[in-house]
Amino acid sequence: MEELAGKSAVVTGAGGGMGRSIALALADAGVNVAVVDIDEAAALSVSNEVAERGVKTFGIRTDVSNFDDVKKLADTAYNHFGSVEILVNNAGVTLRPFRASWDTSYDDFRWMMDVNYYGVLHGHMAFVPRMRETPGEKHIVNTSSTASVISIAGHSAYSASKAAVDGLSNAVRDELKTQNIGLSILHPGAVRTRIATSERLRPEDEKSENRGVKPWADYVQNVANPIVAGQTGPAEDPDVATSATEYITPNDVGRLVVEGILGNKPHILTHPAPLEALQERFDTLLAGQPQPAK
Ligand SMILES: NC(=O)c1ccc[n+]([C@@H]2O[C@H](COP(=O)([O-])OP(=O)(O)OC[C@H]3O[C@@H](n4cnc5c(N)ncnc54)[C@H](O)[C@@H]3O)[C@@H](O)[C@H]2O)c1
Repeated sequence: MEELAGKSAVVTGAGGGMGRSIALALADAGVNVAVVDIDEAAALSVSNEVAERGVKTFGIRTDVSNFDDVKKLADTAYNHFGSVEILVNNAGVTLRPFRASWDTSYDDFRWMMDVNYYGVLHGHMAFVPRMRETPGEKHIVNTSSTASVISIAGHSAYSASKAAVDGLSNAVRDELKTQNIGLSILHPGAVRTRIATSERLRPEDEKSENRGVKPWADYVQNVANPIVAGQTGPAEDPDVATSATEYITPNDVGRLVVEGILGNKPHILTHPAPLEALQERFDTLLAGQPQPAK
């Protein structure tokens, strides 16, 4: 998109963390913003911050895993703004502790897919038909993770849900191009938000802490990934990442997303790319090529 001022956006999971940062950065660019979250108080609070930027806004409780909720959200957004040019499917949840796939319950797998994948698909299905009819440039951002492009043992349910986001997004990007809708996949690295306490949103009997889930770290001597290892990092996280693995604050993520929308970037990263892990994946893929028969 070349011009953002005067456009309207819907940002899910905007009651905190990266969604809040994205909502505020869009508002700073003159975009009207619907602040969407399953936590209504958080959505209203961030909507107040957006309003201070002088753009139109409303906060609304929506469970993105529920398609009826998302269809109502779309109706409300079009009633408020008249059009929606930017959709940010950002709401997401994760599991702690990291766990072996065989210690991951079907409810765990389903919850990851329901929020992280179907949440994105519901946004797509509820908004794209009307975005297609809106003249001018439009853009969608789907929040994935670096977990979708590198391998993280102990994180299978989350990784699978984010890989599904990538698969959907990469396939629809060329479809959307024909409708003047750009698409970016946001791949955050380690960002200090409330994501580690996502299970606060689950029913009591499904929370990992009430089920005595065995941590992945119990199976292995050395856990290389700092998030899996539960390392907390320095007391004060920087806003800007200088390595692939360090924690950052979410403060600067909104700017990166706005730049990604303006540049119609297929992928937006919050950290330097994890080159070794990407190279390993690429190498193992190439190593699987058919060899001539001997
Ligand atoms: N923080 C990280 O290190 C990290 C890394 C990679 C990807 N991500 C992804 O970034 C996105 C934003 O997460 P964050 O880190 O800002 O975490 P966060 O927990 O601070 O924000 C996520 C927001 O989504 C909301 N939410 C959860 N379930 C919802 C539902 N069913 N419907 C609507 N809203 C719901 C939460 O209430 C919360 O406000 C997520 O998709 C997450 O998977 C985060």
